[in-house]
Amino acid sequence: VTELVLVTMAAYLIGSIPFGYLIARRKAKIDITSFGSGRIGATNVLRTLGRKMAALVALLDVLKGVAAVLLAGAVIGHDYVLVGDYHLGILAAQVAAALAAVAGHIFPVFNHFKGGRGVATFFGGFIALYPLAAVFGGEVFIISVGLTGFASLGSIAGVAGAYAMMIPLSLHSGIPMEYLVYSLIGSTVVIFMHRDNIQRLIAGKERRINEKAH
Ligand code: G3P
Repeated sequence: VTELVLVTMAAYLIGSIPFGYLIARRKAKIDITSFGSGRIGATNVLRTLGRKMAALVALLDVLKGVAAVLLAGAVIGHDYVLVGDYHLGILAAQVAAALAAVAGHIFPVFNHFKGGRGVATFFGGFIALYPLAAVFGGEVFIISVGLTGFASLGSIAGVAGAYAMMIPLSLHSGIPMEYLVYSLIGSTVVIFMHRDNIQRLIAGKERRINEKAH
């Protein structure tokens, strides 16, 4: 249990590294939270600082999710941990770590709890846990953004699409329950974090992905 708690805390700290903020501060000497949507994710870096830096931030934020899952797998090397009477499998530990990294990205202790919306880190967790869902969700994201021009809508459709895809698969080919739990909690959190985007989309005031921040 101690290992599980420590790994989850470490994953939260990994997720808390505010790459978007740090890169914007270092390369452009600006506080990214004062521009555009005020978020530190790749979308806001794209509208504020351009493609190169956005790609770097996206990559690093995705890697936080990957790293959390790999760390949990490496530390909880044996098959299960006993929590009270429950046998908790290694997959559950990996899911807990990935969700902790997403929480860290959204509420980073290293950046006064001002973070992103969790999409890239959630996606990174999926790459390490269940790549098929990551590929499917990623495609839904790309197609939705291509059709509408809204990163937020693409993110919402991508996470919801990955979850929807997993339900029939879990019935037929027996996807571990842990993956479904990861998808359900993660997509709910990510969509909840887009509530201001949803209001702007409804009001017709959402920024398009190619709109510059000013
Ligand atoms: O991944 C975040 C994206 O979906 C929306 O970001 O900055 O447009 O609110 P932003």
